[in-house]
Amino acid sequence: MAVLCPTLGDPDAAPALPSAFQIRSAKPGDVPMLMVLKQKMLIEEGVPTGLQGTVLDWLLQGFGPTPSYTAHVAEHDGQVIGIVIFNERRIAGWTRPSIYVQDLYVEPEHRRRGLGRALLAGVAGAARDRGAAYVELNVRDENPARQLYHRTGFEMVPHCLVYVLGGQALLDFANSAAELLMLAGM
Ligand SMILES: CC(C)(COP(=O)(O)OP(=O)(O)OC[C@H]1O[C@@H](n2cnc3c(N)ncnc32)[C@H](O)[C@@H]1OP(=O)(O)O)[C@@H](O)C(=O)NCCC(=O)NCCS
Repeated sequence: MAVLCPTLGDPDAAPALPSAFQIRSAKPGDVPMLMVLKQKMLIEEGVPTGLQGTVLDWLLQGFGPTPSYTAHVAEHDGQVIGIVIFNERRIAGWTRPSIYVQDLYVEPEHRRRGLGRALLAGVAGAARDRGAAYVELNVRDENPARQLYHRTGFEMVPHCLVYVLGGQALLDFANSAAELLMLAGM
C-alpha cells in the first residue's frame, strides 16, 4: 500500500521540510528503524521500562508465520520518519476484530504536516479491509495527540479507565488464585 500525502500548510513557512511523504507497509528491513522510533517515543513519553525485545524478536513477531503486529511507516527520501504499529484484537463471540493502535510516532521536525493523520488513515484503511468493528487506542490525558484523535473521528469511551495487573502484584494474585483453586478442588 502506498499513499501520497502532500505537505499541509504554507510551504514557504517551512522551506526545510520535504514537499511529499510516502506511507507504506513496513518491510523486514524496516525493523531497526521501527525499534529506533519506538525507543524515541518511549523516551519522549517518559516510559521507564524502555524498549523490549531484540531485532530477531521484532522480526519474528512482525514478519513470521503468525504475525502479532502490523506496522506502517512514513518515509521521505528513503528515510523512515514516522511509524504506526497496530494489531488485531479478537473478542469472544464477535465475528469482527478490533484494531488496536499500539504506537504512533513522527519525528519532531516533521510534525504538524499531516503525517500523524496519514498514518492513522492507513490504519483505518487496514481496519476497513479486515472488516474490523473499530480502531482503538490508549492515550495519556495530557497528550496533545488527543486533538489529532478527535479531529480524525475517534471518540473517548466514557467512564472507561485502563487497568493493568503486573509485576509482583500479578505474581502475588496469581499465587493466591492457585491456592483458591486448590481449595475449590480444581
Ligand atoms: C502525535 C503525533 C504522532 C502527531 O503527528 P503529526 O504528524 O504532528 O500529526 P498531524 O500533523 O497529522 O496532526 C497534527 C494535529 O494533531 C494535533 N496535534 C498533534 N500534536 C500536537 C501538539 N504537540 N500540540 C498541539 N496539537 C497537536 C493538532 O490538532 C494538529 O493539527 P494542526 O497541526 O492543524 O493544529 C506526533 O506529535 C508524535 O509523534 N508525538 C509523540 C508521540 C505520541 O505522543 N504518540 C501518540 C501516543 S498515544
